[in-house]
Parts: sequence; C-alpha cells; structure tokens
Amino acid sequence: MLKHLLLASLATAAVIPIGGEHAFRQPNSKEPVTHPARPLVWGDFNVLHTTDTHGWLAGHLLEANFGADWGDFVTFGQLLRQKAREENRDLIVVDTGDRHDGNGLADASDPTGVYAERIFNYGDYDLVTIGNHELYRGHIGLQDRKIVGKHFGERYVVSNVEVLDPTNEWVSMGHKFRNFTTEGGRRVLGLGFLFDFDGNDKIVFKVTPVVSEIQKQWFQDVLQTIEYFDAVVIIGHIPVRDSPEFPLLFDAIRKAHPTIPILMFGGHSHIRDFKVYDKNAAALEAGRYCETIGWASVDLEDVGDDGLSFSRSYIDFNTNSLAFHAGVPNDKFTSHLGRQASSDITGARASLNLDQRLACIPQTYYTDRAPFPSSKSIYTLFEDHILNLLEPSLVDRSNVPRYTLLNTGAVRFDMFKGHYTKDSGYIVSPFANKWVYIKRLPKHVADGILPVINQEDKVVASHTRMLSQVVSEEAHAESVHSKGYHTFDDLGDEGDDTKHIPWKFYPLPNAIQAKRNVTDTTTHVDLVFHDFMAPFVAKALKKLGHQQAFKVEPYGGKHIIELIPMHFGSPSSEHCP
Ligand SMILES: *[C@@H]1O[C@H](CO)[C@@H](O)[C@H](O)[C@H]1NC(C)=O
Ligand SMILES: *[C@@H]1O[C@H](CO)[C@@H](O)[C@H](O)[C@H]1NC(C)=O
Ligand SMILES: [Zn+2]
Repeated sequence: MLKHLLLASLATAAVIPIGGEHAFRQPNSKEPVTHPARPLVWGDFNVLHTTDTHGWLAGHLLEANFGADWGDFVTFGQLLRQKAREENRDLIVVDTGDRHDGNGLADASDPTGVYAERIFNYGDYDLVTIGNHELYRGHIGLQDRKIVGKHFGERYVVSNVEVLDPTNEWVSMGHKFRNFTTEGGRRVLGLGFLFDFDGNDKIVFKVTPVVSEIQKQWFQDVLQTIEYFDAVVIIGHIPVRDSPEFPLLFDAIRKAHPTIPILMFGGHSHIRDFKVYDKNAAALEAGRYCETIGWASVDLEDVGDDGLSFSRSYIDFNTNSLAFHAGVPNDKFTSHLGRQASSDITGARASLNLDQRLACIPQTYYTDRAPFPSSKSIYTLFEDHILNLLEPSLVDRSNVPRYTLLNTGAVRFDMFKGHYTKDSGYIVSPFANKWVYIKRLPKHVADGILPVINQEDKVVASHTRMLSQVVSEEAHAESVHSKGYHTFDDLGDEGDDTKHIPWKFYPLPNAIQAKRNVTDTTTHVDLVFHDFMAPFVAKALKKLGHQQAFKVEPYGGKHIIELIPMHFGSPSSEHCP
C-alpha cells in the first residue's frame, strides 16, 4: 500500500509540461498523426494488458502512430492508476510474455535481453507471465526469471513451467498463482499459463500441458476455495480463440463455480481479439510489438445470472491516444518515472549502436500487408535477390546449382523505406539461425520439398491476422497515415480506440525458395536452409518416400540481415528517402 501511495503522489507531482518537444521520448521518434475517437469505458474493475512486446520498448521509430515508447506506457499506467483511485475503481495491469526476439533493443545485446528486461521492469504490473520466446534457450529463460521474475516477485506467475535449479531440482519457474486483494478490496485469484509448447530447451525447462497441470493438487486445492474470490484473472501466453488451453481452464473453474467472473488475457497469435466465454467470462488479446495496449473493464457488482457487461478497447501505442485516455493534454503527458524509462531506452540503444546506418531502402517491403508474390512483398525480394547473395563459407560449393529454402517466419516484420539500420536488421530477422545444406539432392526430389512444406498447417507461428475480418479495400484511402487495425471480435467492430482505414492482410506460404545456377540440364542441386528448418525438411523427404537419411551439413555464409545491405549497397546518408 505504501508503495502505491508513493507512486500515486509521484505521478501527480510528475505531470509537468514539456512544451511539445520530444524531450523525453526517443530522439528520432515521430509525432502521431491519428487521434482516438472512442474513450475507454470504465467499470469498477479495469485491466490494462500488454503482450508479445518482443523488445519493441522504444516504440516504432518509423511508424508515427505506434511511436510511443515504454516510458510513455509507464506514464500512462501511473496516470490511469491515479484516475482509478480518485474514482474509487480498481485497475490492474498484466503482461502475457514474449519479451525476446523481435527488436535490436532485446536481441543486439550479449546476452540478449539484458537491457530490454530491465526496461520492461519499469511497468507497474500486478501479474506477469512468460511466453515461448523466453524458453527456446536455457540461459535466456533463466535470465528472465532472474531479472523479471525477481523484480516482480509474487506477481511473476507461471503456473505450468518448471525449471531445473542449481541444486538439480525441478522448481516452479514462477509462482503457481497469486492470491491478492486489490486496493478496492476485491479478492483476486491470478493464474499464469503457457500454451502446450514443446519447442523449449528440455534440459532446463519442463512445460506441463494445461490439461495435466490442472489435475495437480495445487490447482485442485485452489478450486476448493474458489468461493473466496471475487474474480479469477488468468493471464496466458495463449491465443484467446481456436486454442484448447483457455477453454480447459475456463471449464475447470466454471465447474467449480457456476458464476465467478473469469477474465482471461491472452497472446502468442499477435492479434487484437476479444472472445466471450459465457455471461461472466471473457478473454482479451492485445496484439503485438508495442502496437497495442489492451483494455478490459467490467462491473463486478453485476455478477450473477444476468451476467457481466464487458467492455474492451485496443489502444494505439501513440501519445495522442495515451494522453487522451489519461485525460491530460498531450504536451503534459510525462512523468518522472516514464522519463527515466525513456532515457534508459535511449542509452541502451546508443550503447548497442542501433542507429548505425547500413543501407538505404528505396521502398517499403511488407511481410503480410502485401500479396505474395508481388513487388511490395519482402518475400519476393528475398526470392529474387537477397537469398541468391548467400555464399557458402564452410564448403567450396559456390557455383553449384542451388535451391535456398527460407521459412517465411524467419522474416518477422516489414522493412520500411529509408535508412536500414542495425536495428532494422534485428526487426526483420531477430533469430540466430545458421545455414546448413544437403549436398547434391536429385533435382526431382528437391522440387517436391517446398510444395510439401507449404501443405503443412504450420511451420512457425501463424502470420495471418483475422483475414476474414478485414473488410474494405484500401483503394479509396485518403491518407496512408490513417491506415491501421480494424478489429472484428465478439463484441463487434468498435474496439479500436482509433478509427482506421483497414489494413489488408494477405495469406503467406510456410516457406519460399530461391534458385541459383539452375538450368534445364541440371540434374542435382544443393538444398540450403536454416538449421531451424532441418526437421521440417526431413519430414518432407520422408513424406516424399525417401526413407534414407540425407546428410545435413554446415554451409556457413552470412546471416540474412547482413545480406540485405549487400543488395541495396552502402548508405548514401543524405539522399536516402
Ligand atoms: C487466499 O488468501 C486468503 C487470506 O489470506 C486465505 O484465507 C485463502 O485461503 C487464500 N486462498 C488460497 C487459494 O490460497
Ligand atoms: C551462379 O550464380 C551466381 C549468382 O547469380 C553468378 O554470379 C555465377 O556466375 C553463377 N555461376 C555459374 C557457374 O553459372
Ligand atoms: Zn509473440
């Protein structure tokens, strides 16, 4: 309580005019263009939600409408807490994981994430959990537990992941649950689950599927006393729709109590979404990459047979939106703590040299906001140019006919017109993949692999976001700046706080392939791909009837983020568009 009072007075005292300058945001961030049209609807119980930040704590320096930074989010949280207190409402703040892989701030450091995790900790969270991106590499997960877990203590809730501790014993990665009372006196049960993930480092982590975890004694004990609570808040690195884990949790709790309010907060599929489970239960998902802050509110007083009335908003991550919802003028939107977080980000970006210019990109290339293939598709660029620049460094196979296979998930985000910086590289492809190859594969066999891989449901996390939910074409777009998300969810299509001309998203194949030195007379090709893809290639070969093991060997060569500047040449510092 004392800490909260301290923060409150800090927030009050800290709202100081900054004269419209960028003084406390990132030095090269842009002013937002759009303005929110839909105020937040407050209930007696309100929740702010972030998810899948993936290191984007500096905000989107090249996209003005997502140009706020983590410092702004910190300010926002303080101002909203202050407002909640003044109006006698409850506000809790939650995050559902994936803090790594996606941005130089997280991935350019050694070890990765050391700056980003500390900056993330400025967030005043009541509940924080982990995502699958915390668990691919043992040392990264242990570090998240040490930096983020230690900081948040009982608020770091990881209900179904165990970690091998230094004494060789399996212990819970975080707290199994959190039993807490809000400032308004409401009793809340907090749970934090990861979806049934199998790609983790198995030496250090054990992920228990939700269906098994909820059989365990601790969960059954909690269900025994469920009557005690006014609400259950489940944070999960789990999509809120079309994934089995939230329904399992919902069913288990609903069986134990027919009406207790259940508020779920999800992630992983990187979309804005809201799903109603029953009259007293619903789930929110707040997008990705610091593009969105989610808001859910409810009047817990109304619980019962008639059900709760839910409200949700998807807040664009820019200062017009944040200042508007906080009820302060844009030029007064800052706090001491927010400013400190912003300045830590500026410092970290400088020490990582993220603004270093490596090339000039003449046009924007999109991942899923352009059709594939097309001249605007980053995958077409890779197929036609970038992948063929790869030269092997560990074998002497340079002029040999070659197919280079790349899973589309290896390219994470769009590449914008303008300077290509060290940061841009990590944004486009944050993964530390290595090239490997199969030598002299008969061409007719190699020709079968891509089609098989592209028939598979999913090679990596899906890229498509609610394709069916995007309505109108962009043809009559008045201004490119007002394009954005137009979300359709269980409550309708007015959840986005800012009205946008809808972006159109296009489906992508699982993988693409570039060909080099291949002619009509070619009988054999080297098949080159990322080590990550080896199991998928092996599976495809099996499916094609080739049971014998093909040898996969190291190939060497540059990372794709180094190949990109080779195509565009060196940066012409002044004349880059
Ligand atoms: C939650 O805390 C209250 C108060 O300390 C306690 O009575 C209750 O048994 C706790 N419930 C669980 C499931 O830990
Ligand atoms: C193979 O392709 C590369 C890139 O297109 C080209 O530079 C090279 O000359 C080709 N080698 C042969 C033997 O055709
Ligand atoms: Zn994610």
